[in-house]
Amino acid sequence: MRVICISNHKGGCSKTTVALNLAVTLSATGSRVLTVDLDPQGNLSASLGIDLEDLENTKRTAHRLMLDEQGDYSNYVVNMRPRLDMIPACLDADAEQKLSYSIAQPASSPIIKHDHNDHKRSNHHQRPQGPQ
Ligand SMILES: Nc1ncnc2c1ncn2[C@@H]1O[C@H](COP(=O)(O)OP(=O)(O)OP(=O)(O)O)[C@@H](O)[C@H]1O
Ligand SMILES: [Mg+2]
Repeated sequence: MRVICISNHKGGCSKTTVALNLAVTLSATGSRVLTVDLDPQGNLSASLGIDLEDLENTKRTAHRLMLDEQGDYSNYVVNMRPRLDMIPACLDADAEQKLSYSIAQPASSPIIKHDHNDHKRSNHHQRPQGPQ
């Protein structure tokens, strides 16, 4: 699996356009793609067909997933077209405020708890046991 992160503080420099074209091109040429929109403007989500007004009600967003202590990401993934899924984003001041607080206080962060539980649940990250 490859992770491609598109990030730049400068506004209007084509982040969303690049993400959209990469996601559509990769999925159209056979790759399985999960796009994660982390911009509360939700432009990538809208351009792939998400109804932002509906999303503001359901709040099945990437930001809410990061705050979700259950961490079942399947509740947040939407299939947009063949081989192209997305975890969308929309304006959500409450979620942004909670995430800022979590990042400022990592010891009590739900994000850290989430990672910790994942680590305990998953065998993928365990080192192979050598001879004792
Ligand atoms: N290669 C390009 N050629 C011409 N116009 C482009 C190109 N890439 C992007 N644009 C246009 O530039 C504008 C900004 O692009 P985009 O929304 O992708 O930027 P952004 O970095 O995501 O912006 P923001 O910081 O607001 O999220 C859009 O109108 C887009 O259509
Ligand atoms: Mg953008």
